[in-house]
Amino acid sequence: MALSKYVVGNWKMHGTSSDLPEIASIASAAAGSTGVDVALCLPATLIDRAATSMAGFAFGGQDVHQDEKGAHTGCTSAAMLLDAGASLAIVGHSERRSDQCETDEQVRAKAEAGLKAGLGVILCIGESLDVREAGQAVATVQSQLDASLPHGDGAAAGVPGKFAIAYEPIWAIGTGKVASPADIGEMHKALRERLVAAYGDAGNEVRILYGGSVNASNAAEIFAVDDVDGALVGGASLTAEKFVPIVEAAAAR
Ligand code: 13P
Repeated sequence: MALSKYVVGNWKMHGTSSDLPEIASIASAAAGSTGVDVALCLPATLIDRAATSMAGFAFGGQDVHQDEKGAHTGCTSAAMLLDAGASLAIVGHSERRSDQCETDEQVRAKAEAGLKAGLGVILCIGESLDVREAGQAVATVQSQLDASLPHGDGAAAGVPGKFAIAYEPIWAIGTGKVASPADIGEMHKALRERLVAAYGDAGNEVRILYGGSVNASNAAEIFAVDDVDGALVGGASLTAEKFVPIVEAAAAR
């Protein structure tokens, strides 16, 4: 049975208090869309104000530290995100893997820490253009997934809705280039196999999102691909005008 779709906006390093009305427009449009879960992962500085004024809508962080507390200047713990009103966090985004040199091992620890604390977690994986052109995309992303999947008592991967994967080919992020439906389908099927190998039947409950230049024009085609359970959207999530049609395309599936 198909999983309900999940459409998540990743605002990256965008957004100040002047954007709260835009966030409110997105939240109120999402409330009217049935059959699709919607969330916005905001800059940490905005979560508290957004969550306070838009109770009921799901807000998330864009990263979470693996430790509960300590000497980690500039980092945000799961407890801090929860305290601010977040209910989820992204981990392992390729921009953090490259800008902050995050390893699969750290990403796995972050995923486990987030889940253990009660946050939903979206774990990002994806290949570079070189890897894709070398014909190694599936094998590379599968091993990235294997190495960064949460396990143990923090895994909670069997809790429906708590854990999701986002396949984001690095070369498709912010470039306007989108993976073909055939390539997305091949990758998501391969990732589903790895999830089932890791978690058994619970692996079928983990939603696999696609990310990379998703917009109102290509969303319906992407959502029609088998094993695409939603989207992680960057640039097109910054305004209601661009994001709401993506949510509607998901709701129409
Ligand atoms: P774009 O939708 O801007 O390509 O970004 C995708 C992304 O990185 C979401 O996490």
